[in-house]
Amino acid sequence: MAEGTGREQWSSTAGFILASIGSAVGIGNIWRFPYIVGANGGGAFLIPYLISVFLFGLPLMVLEFAIGRSTKTSVLTAFRSMRDRLSVAGLAVVAIAALVLSYYLVITSWVLAYALFFTVGQPTDFAAFTGSYIPLIFFFISGVAVFLTVRSGVKEGIEMISRILIPILVVILLFLVVFALTQTGAADGIAFYLSPDYSRLSDPTVWTAAFGQAFFSLSVGMGVMLTYGSYLEGGNLFRNASVIAVADMLIAILAGLVIFPLVFTAGLDPASGVNLAFITLPAVFLEMRFGMILGALFFAMLFAAALTSAVSMFEVPVATMIDSFGYTRKRATRLIFGVIMLLGLPSALSYTALELDLFGVPFLDLSDYLFGTLGLIIAGLIISVVGGWYMDRTRICDEIGGCGWQQRAYVVLIRYCVPAILLITLIATLVQAGG
Ligand code: PHE
Repeated sequence: MAEGTGREQWSSTAGFILASIGSAVGIGNIWRFPYIVGANGGGAFLIPYLISVFLFGLPLMVLEFAIGRSTKTSVLTAFRSMRDRLSVAGLAVVAIAALVLSYYLVITSWVLAYALFFTVGQPTDFAAFTGSYIPLIFFFISGVAVFLTVRSGVKEGIEMISRILIPILVVILLFLVVFALTQTGAADGIAFYLSPDYSRLSDPTVWTAAFGQAFFSLSVGMGVMLTYGSYLEGGNLFRNASVIAVADMLIAILAGLVIFPLVFTAGLDPASGVNLAFITLPAVFLEMRFGMILGALFFAMLFAAALTSAVSMFEVPVATMIDSFGYTRKRATRLIFGVIMLLGLPSALSYTALELDLFGVPFLDLSDYLFGTLGLIIAGLIISVVGGWYMDRTRICDEIGGCGWQQRAYVVLIRYCVPAILLITLIATLVQAGG
């Protein structure tokens, strides 16, 4: 442990905020958010999204920080300290974080590969790339990068990497926004992205899409923010969480101002998911002047975002091994590295010549659905119920600055509204999958 005695800590509130922004800003902001906006009512989608972020996502983030800071330990031990039988719930949250990381790291590694391909001026066709075994090498390299960061500790590893990468990310993003907005297709791109279609707001799937996206993007519900909060001393949790949420949202909105103008300038159709990032955008860059540099910058930015998010997910099981099982950070990171590599292997192999799948669905897509969508909602439900119902009310009040009417309103939100919304989202997601 870096401190010798006692728990590791962030070097300052700013360091904590940067690390949390590092976790929140990820693949979810830079290519998932823009497409979801475009497909769910454009500018009108910002209404359900803002509501999701500030009414549900932010309170859950504050709750996670509060549990972590007041118990000074990670998910499993924190839950156990409230009731013994909550251990199972804690383990479930940790397992979901590890499972989400296992496939998130696969996508992270593709991003790294593309950043490199563009840097050397040789972008490869996506099918040819994923059909080979080269992605496995990048999967391993990305895993090692995450491992080395987390092994270096909270301050020297996790905080340090965010202090370096987040400012770089913002600079690249701003540069790309200016560049994209001065291209010929900018107006069409923005029209597709942001023209509000208010009629879509009566469609419940637009709302569940907003809830799901908000929770995923804010990194809440998986014990990441709880763990990060456990390394925090003082400070106003609402204010800190608001800074993180606003930064997360701004970066997501700006990313759309890069992607759609470029896609429309190239005269291409905006695609969704994997196709948008790895097929459409590379095609856009290939057609442009300075396309290699732009592509390299874009994927480097995406990699910076993905890496700091992957690091935060990795810290969840690592902190659990340290706090609950008495491991040293070195031993814990080694073990978790091995576990994640094994868990991620099926996803990493799902697009190769082996075409690993289950019921005809590639393993990676299946993991995204089971863990990244359903798992995240279930874990979020667990945390909000445990925090809202089992954590001492006075303890919550202590963490959020008293027990006035605002705090009481907050407790109502956490106890009733957040679990209800998550439950509705879970049922709606299952119904959609069945229908
Ligand atoms: N927030 C990250 C993103 O937007 C993903 C993430 C989810 C990271 C949950 C940690 C925990 O890509």
